[in-house]
Amino acid sequence: MSSGKCSLQYAVWGGPEIWAAVNASLFHSNGKQFLRDFHDALSLQLGNSNIYLLNGGRVALRVALQVMKNRSPGRSDVLVPAYVCPSVVRVVSDLGLTPVPVEIGPDLNLLQSDALNRLDRNTLAVVGVHMYACPLALYALESACRDAGVYLIDDAAHSMGAAKGSAPLGVRGDVGILSFNQSKTITTGVVEGGGALVINNNALCADFGAEARSIGQPAFSLLGIGKFLLEYQVADLTRVPFYYASRLGILAGARNENDVRQTRWLSSASCAIGLAQLRRVSTIRREKERVAARYHEMLRHAADVHMPQYAATRYLSRVMVQFSTPALRDGARARLRRAGIGDRLPYPDWTGLTITPHRAATRVYDHLLEVPSRIDLDDHAISRIAELLCLSEARTVRADN
Ligand SMILES: Cc1ncc(COP(=O)(O)O)c(C=O)c1O
Repeated sequence: MSSGKCSLQYAVWGGPEIWAAVNASLFHSNGKQFLRDFHDALSLQLGNSNIYLLNGGRVALRVALQVMKNRSPGRSDVLVPAYVCPSVVRVVSDLGLTPVPVEIGPDLNLLQSDALNRLDRNTLAVVGVHMYACPLALYALESACRDAGVYLIDDAAHSMGAAKGSAPLGVRGDVGILSFNQSKTITTGVVEGGGALVINNNALCADFGAEARSIGQPAFSLLGIGKFLLEYQVADLTRVPFYYASRLGILAGARNENDVRQTRWLSSASCAIGLAQLRRVSTIRREKERVAARYHEMLRHAADVHMPQYAATRYLSRVMVQFSTPALRDGARARLRRAGIGDRLPYPDWTGLTITPHRAATRVYDHLLEVPSRIDLDDHAISRIAELLCLSEARTVRADN
């Protein structure tokens, strides 16, 4: 960050990923080996679970909910954390099911006590998300769901390679969800994205087998890789606003980013990229832990800004900071932007006013901000960003003296 500028990092990619894409798509007419190797590598990490490799986390979620809906047609409510990616809510409502918001706790994860209160005879499933890889303890929910005949989805979309204790995330409940899209821990990052459905309840295998017969052939194009690189990897270098062009629908064919794609198998080229990404997972984890720890050290005495998900040695896929007021958040955001530092707003409120009585969720939509957690950030760069986050506090302290 010698120029002082710093963007977010949507994927940790380099030569191996680009070579994997080119090699798999141009020189391997039969890429079954990549599929097998990626499948087996994931399966090994997830304790030999039964895994379907699909073209996105939301697609995996849709397949899972469709099977659950077929098995329990009288139930239509799906409990979803009040703070979550809008694509999750979209999948639920597109299936004609009702997303029911569940209050979140201080770590941005679903509040188990609220979920337990909301379980009833109309509840089809609970989507238990490990938000930004911060582990959600699922034990209590798991037994309550089992007793109530409710399916539990262990949504580890952000969390590939993360664990609670020694158990990897994504292997509890009836099914697990993984995503390999941009900003996740590993990224296959092409137009079709990537994800996986992990079947943890063997009783569901036959139903998924039947559903699998209607899954489409994989789609992959090197153009997709080019688009991903332009949108997410080099746009801030070239200053060409591909990302915004895509948002306007010019490059993406007028597609809303929360649209759920046709269900397809993951392509062999995406699997080849996934394999290259898996080789980096331990480095990504280690470096992200280092970056989060440094931010935490710099912010630990700040009165108005904290890291809601931080714990020592906890891997977080993104660094979120939370301000005590929306005005402080917006002020910090303006300072970051002036300094050429990237940021991202949190997921929007999808709950309306339906959550009572806590409404802790309302304190995150306007109070949170994502700051860069690039694995190449050094201590100096992190300190500078942390200073910009706290600047208004420093001014207040000086004025008080
Ligand atoms: C918790 C969660 N589940 C599922 C998804 C969907 O994953 P994908 O973008 O691969 O479709 C997301 C996307 O961000 C997510 O945050």
